[in-house]
Amino acid sequence: MTRSPDLIEWHPASWQSKAAAQQPTYRDKAALDGVVAELSRLPPIVVSWEIESLKEQIAAAQRGERFVLQGGDCAESFDDCESDKIAKKLKILLQMSLVLLHGMKKPIVRIGRMAGQYAKPRSADTETRDGVTLPCYRGAIVNRPGFTPEEREPDPQLLLRGYERAGLTLNFVRALIDGGFADLHHPEYWDLDFVRHSPLKAAYEKIVHSISDALDFFEATSRRPIHEANRVDFFASHEGLHLHYEQAQTRFIERQQRWYNLSTHMPWIGMRTAALDGAHVELFRGIANPMGIKVGPSMSAEWVQGLLEVLNPNNEPGRIVLIHRMGAKEIDKRLPSLIQAVRATGSPVLWMCDPMHGNTETASSGLKTRRFDNIVAELEAAFRIHREMGSWLGGVHFELTGEDVTECTGGARGLTDADLARAYKSQVDPRLNYEQALELAMRMAGLHPPVRR
Ligand code: PEP
Ligand code: CO
Repeated sequence: MTRSPDLIEWHPASWQSKAAAQQPTYRDKAALDGVVAELSRLPPIVVSWEIESLKEQIAAAQRGERFVLQGGDCAESFDDCESDKIAKKLKILLQMSLVLLHGMKKPIVRIGRMAGQYAKPRSADTETRDGVTLPCYRGAIVNRPGFTPEEREPDPQLLLRGYERAGLTLNFVRALIDGGFADLHHPEYWDLDFVRHSPLKAAYEKIVHSISDALDFFEATSRRPIHEANRVDFFASHEGLHLHYEQAQTRFIERQQRWYNLSTHMPWIGMRTAALDGAHVELFRGIANPMGIKVGPSMSAEWVQGLLEVLNPNNEPGRIVLIHRMGAKEIDKRLPSLIQAVRATGSPVLWMCDPMHGNTETASSGLKTRRFDNIVAELEAAFRIHREMGSWLGGVHFELTGEDVTECTGGARGLTDADLARAYKSQVDPRLNYEQALELAMRMAGLHPPVRR
């Protein structure tokens, strides 16, 4: 008797019997197998007790007790694995989280899109230029961006290079944080030069002073330091897109008696790979990590309900983060019925808004961009709709950088389409620059006055 496929037991490679979207085609299968075997033997990037700690914090955020800030590049590149760029990204996330803490009066959970955000979904497998067709660029872990057959050929060795860079990135972030970089008593450590010249300077400094005063007050009156203020947690996340990479780092942890994907704390399933019977959902259903699911306008309520049933059959708190990315135009139409459909399942989820991916457009120059006003509009709508429905928007998801790029238009400096060419560095989606990111945090802090629950 043949068993129905969903009764076949899960294991880290069981996804291979399902349809796997968005995977590169490797010509040399033996080379790929060799790399996967090596990656499976190398030490993990993160460990299970950190993952469990994040899961508890997400469960608290589901109850409205915390707020999650997730952000970073659309795709990391190997060239950007440099101390200055990593530190700047960490700084802007810390600054934003300080502003959110001040505005929302809730602990902020910080999750970087970093240390593994190397594979990208693409709308087509190939790209044609002047009659020449080559595989499309799928991210640094897969192939190279130059338009030559050699550069576009998927190279399994890049999986190892990506794993190493993920390890280097997270090692540096951990060392900075453990060394006191994130200490709330010293927010001056995270100052980015720009703040000195920015229209946002006064507002940001006021927030910093007010937090310092509050810390001084509590520490003086209680006669003890607030330990939580010295050290913050920082977690890593990436899209769990490249299934061989994710499989190789998925391990059974005896102490927990569960499988974990140890390539990152919180992988997410992108919108293009969320098919209910697809390979990505198969891999994700077997791991104990908290997981994001991107939900776009094309996903039906039944589809999302099906995902919750497969991915969280035991209604475990802290496990599922639904990241809606509808676009400013669609959110009012789509989100209310989605909230209702999820509520009907009784499954606990953390709602997060990604106001980036539904608001991408092409500027007259041909560059991909996003308008700051549309990003703010989607965020405003998200907070309003959740509030009106008695639901809790417990997190936000941004593509941002700590650098002075010109990829999104608008913001305090009023960047226009004509400014885009000046410092457009992204190979993929346009990111908020540091000033736009900080401004967004300030807008959110204002949008979201503390609620008593
Ligand atoms: C992304 O987060 O970079 C991405 C591709 O998102 P989505 O799957 O929501 O389109
Ligand atoms: Co993106």
